[in-house]
Amino acid sequence: MNKNTRHFLRVRDLSYNEIQKLFERSTLLKKQVKENVFKQELQNRTLILLFEKHSTRTRLSFEVGMQQLGGNSIVLQMRDTQIDRGETIEDAARVISRMCDIIMMRTFEHSKIEAFAKHSTAPIINGLTNEHHPCQVLSDIFTFQEHRGNILGKTISWIGDINNMCASWIEASNILGFKLHVSSPPEYKHLLEELNINQNNVEYFADPLEACMQSDLITTDVWTSMGFEQEKNERLKSFERWTVDKRKIDVANKDVVFMHCLPAHRGEEVSADVIDGPQSVVWQEAENRLHFQKALLEYLIKINEA
Ligand code: CP
Ligand code: NVA
Repeated sequence: MNKNTRHFLRVRDLSYNEIQKLFERSTLLKKQVKENVFKQELQNRTLILLFEKHSTRTRLSFEVGMQQLGGNSIVLQMRDTQIDRGETIEDAARVISRMCDIIMMRTFEHSKIEAFAKHSTAPIINGLTNEHHPCQVLSDIFTFQEHRGNILGKTISWIGDINNMCASWIEASNILGFKLHVSSPPEYKHLLEELNINQNNVEYFADPLEACMQSDLITTDVWTSMGFEQEKNERLKSFERWTVDKRKIDVANKDVVFMHCLPAHRGEEVSADVIDGPQSVVWQEAENRLHFQKALLEYLIKINEA
């Protein structure tokens, strides 16, 4: 067991000050990329990416980020490893962590990444579990702040499924002090109640339009997350009124921004005129995964060596 290794499995694993430092560093790293300046901060370091679910952005942003920092990355699909043939997560963690400096893992149950982290000598980054998507939410807040300044005291509206993204937004609201309006069909409200996360900054709305009023950021995600495909048809019906469309944007603050972690389904959780419209910052949001995660990779490697 490695009780002292610092991992990043959920937003609350970082303090307010650490998040601020990471945002500052992300700003600098982003500026350097735009100026074609690449410092080899992680030369000879290796990142292993372990995937049990699909990915476009997460894989690319980590791999490109590591390359830009002068390091190496290796992608492992879990189904190609001995884990798929019965090797335990604990044994895999003991071995894989000896081969590299840092690991990113995308899997199903959060308990799996926790079990892996417990036996890993290298820091683990959560690249999405059923319960959390912390890299995405912190990159999103970094993006929001680039457009609208400090998120402290702002109102964020989460419209749609109460999923991994929503849980990470709730954790972030506790650390960074913003109001989170959550709107989901009443039959899904129990998911909010079942989250074991402090919800002091959360207000639930049965009416999605009301949840968007006075909002500084409206954000949503797919109605059916990876791993829940068997619920797809039922969800399509239940979430019908939760499409983020122009009417919802119109009741929000004038300078509201729209975000979506992507991939998106136009005509389901968001209308085409919103995601492709003037309020949308989804492409900057996707790019910022690269800059934020470079700062995170540097930081986690550094603090675990200190
Ligand atoms: N937003 C996000 O995590 O995208 P991918 O599933 O493509 O990695
Ligand atoms: N909530 C989505 C996010 C995809 C990046 C999922 O878990 O599938």
